[in-house]
Amino acid sequence: MKNLTIGICNDHAGTELKNFLMDALKDEVKLFVNFGTDSNDSCDYPDFAHPMAEAVESGKCDFGIAICGTGNGITMTCNKHQKIRGALSWEPEIAKLAREHNDANVVGIPARFISKEKALEIVKVFLSTKFEGGRHERRVAKIAL
Ligand code: RB5
Repeated sequence: MKNLTIGICNDHAGTELKNFLMDALKDEVKLFVNFGTDSNDSCDYPDFAHPMAEAVESGKCDFGIAICGTGNGITMTCNKHQKIRGALSWEPEIAKLAREHNDANVVGIPARFISKEKALEIVKVFLSTKFEGGRHERRVAKIAL
């Protein structure tokens, strides 16, 4: 994890959790690039998701973390990008399998439905789990259009 540059994006529902995660993981990753709003004022998640997805697609960021109230809108937006495989995760095991089986490069977090501690666990397992390859390679290759 120490060598990873991580993009993070959020809307108003995810500002508090974004700050918590960046603080908790500041010594565990190389760099956080903050694409999200830093305000609690109502805003539109695609405005923050698209720039982060572009940074992950281009390789400027190794992985992305996408946070909104349900995690749905911001993950859906990221997944409009051909090279993004965003996985909405509400349990660490889902995040782990998303890396092992789907080679997910963005983890979606539902800020209004899980605790900060659970979100931290999810992000840690996501960033430290490797893609298994093998039979999953062929399936993942069929995802993009
Ligand atoms: C904002 O109220 C909320 O709709 C948004 O954070 C997210 O849950 C959308 O998918």
